[in-house]
Amino acid sequence: MAAQEGGDSEDDAILIPETATLLPSTQHCLHSINSAVFIRELRSQGISFQLWPPATTLLTLLDGHRRDPSTGPLSPTLSALDSRQRPHRILELGSGTGIVGIAAAATLGATVTVTDLPHVIPNLLFNVEANASVLAANGGLVHVAALRWGEAADVEKIGREFDLILASDVVYHDHLYEPLLNTLRLLMSGEAEEEGRVFVMAHMRRWKKDSAFFKKARKLFEVEVLHVDPPCLGSRVGVAVYRFTAKKSSRKMLNSVDNANIIA
Ligand SMILES: C[S@@+](CC[C@H](N)C(=O)[O-])C[C@H]1O[C@@H](n2cnc3c(N)ncnc32)[C@H](O)[C@@H]1O
Repeated sequence: MAAQEGGDSEDDAILIPETATLLPSTQHCLHSINSAVFIRELRSQGISFQLWPPATTLLTLLDGHRRDPSTGPLSPTLSALDSRQRPHRILELGSGTGIVGIAAAATLGATVTVTDLPHVIPNLLFNVEANASVLAANGGLVHVAALRWGEAADVEKIGREFDLILASDVVYHDHLYEPLLNTLRLLMSGEAEEEGRVFVMAHMRRWKKDSAFFKKARKLFEVEVLHVDPPCLGSRVGVAVYRFTAKKSSRKMLNSVDNANIIA
């Protein structure tokens, strides 16, 4: 492991995996763990191969949470998971470069499955491998798997044993709204609903039509805003982070069925 210059003391040093120095990659600091993650972007290959602003927002919030778990927008969600007293199991949808999943694994010491379309998998594997030493040093583990939204068989293959689902910048083409919501429905129903599974999503509003996604989502889930970034230069709205949970009414129904069973 190599350390980057820039701090006055050894404690200030940012840990950089040696392999990363050989890659045409971008570096992202995780101050809370004195480390950096390295991501290879292949911008000429399309949207799946570059880092989008909502991913940076989640990275910053995860870093902030590790630094001070008692405050911050992710605090209630992540602190609720801590009570389970085992490493968090996280699933990321539409991971792209994988930076969010890698940062979540490193900052939370979690086991994360990063997923995307099959043609994105080789770059995801590359990025996970490039950050192997930072992950190992922080007790994080990252698995890579193909998961196509709307494909129930892909969810079956991966399983549903997750404590938290994450995504950044996955709402952009309207033909993807239904498949994404179907996958979420599969991941957040049944036992997951009983356990109070949460989906946290960072979103950058680009078009008015984005609201159609949220309209559909609100029919299926409770949707609340956890955080909004100040707008970047030249844009009217900042990245927003949403939290989706099972509809209160359906959870109440589930609980009353359970209670009835217990009484019977
Ligand atoms: C705008 S990019 C965001 C990438 C990354 N999450 C980020 O914020 O940097 C959207 C991601 O969703 C993925 N995606 C699009 N359609 C998908 C589908 N049907 N199933 C799974 N992933 C999909 C893309 O491959 C891409 O990686």
